Amino acid sequence: MALFDLERVVDRLDFLDPAAGQLQKLISQRIAAGGPVAQRVKDGLNGTWLGHPLHPALTDVPIGAWTGSTLLDLLDHGRGEGLGHAADLLVGIGCASGLAAAASGVADWHDTYGAERRTGFVHGLLNGAALGLLGSSLLLRVAGRRRGARPFALLGYGLATFAAFFGGDMVFRMGTQVNRNAWAKGPEDWTEVAADEEVKDGALLRRRAGDAEIVLTRVGARLVAVGAVCPHAGGPMDEGKVEDGRIACPWHGSNFELSTGAVCQGPASMALPIFETRVTATGQVEVRIPPR
Ligand code: FES
Repeated sequence: MALFDLERVVDRLDFLDPAAGQLQKLISQRIAAGGPVAQRVKDGLNGTWLGHPLHPALTDVPIGAWTGSTLLDLLDHGRGEGLGHAADLLVGIGCASGLAAAASGVADWHDTYGAERRTGFVHGLLNGAALGLLGSSLLLRVAGRRRGARPFALLGYGLATFAAFFGGDMVFRMGTQVNRNAWAKGPEDWTEVAADEEVKDGALLRRRAGDAEIVLTRVGARLVAVGAVCPHAGGPMDEGKVEDGRIACPWHGSNFELSTGAVCQGPASMALPIFETRVTATGQVEVRIPPR
């Protein structure tokens, strides 16, 4: 069976849903119990401070370290202690960075549903097993039993590589954590979108501007236009809330500054597009993307 058939088998593993749902609920409860500090930790793991999802950047470290340790383990036979020590070190680096990658992956997975959640769950279970095997290998190495440690490391590395397929499937097939505004930029020239009187203070009005969906609102005297599609997973921003100069997504609660589009709270890690606005002499609102 080709791997691209396998991914569709995983899509249909709905018997995983109760366990996955329970785990998400538990994580939500922990975040709620931990208050703003826990929310900031989750935001940090989502990559809000980086302007980019953190998980894909972190996963390179354990995969790279374990690739190195596997090669050194294979080369080590009878070639001296140096290669073996280097392999031990790389297994340790891979395990430590693997824990950080797992934490960021759980933070991203927490806000998924349906087939995406199932695939993420399988990805996490396989990676958890891989981390367990490589952790066991590390303990055996520390105990001076490198020969016995190698099969654990090899198996763990194979499992982590297999698990990576499902991570890639989530991004490239399902679009998990892909910026939903990557292709729709909006008009470069001033474009009429509404009558000025239609835009009310604190209310959200959805309109189309060129190839982009936008939301218009008024904050005091200021007319504001931002993207109508949440960059995190495509939530409808016109169904969100405006409060304290920010707009909140109705789906997972990401918060963005209305003046700059910057992320104030995740899980979104990328900014909400903003548009320049003006009102014509005939009372029409026009928007355009800010000139570079
Ligand atoms: S779609 Fe997830 S926070 Fe908006």
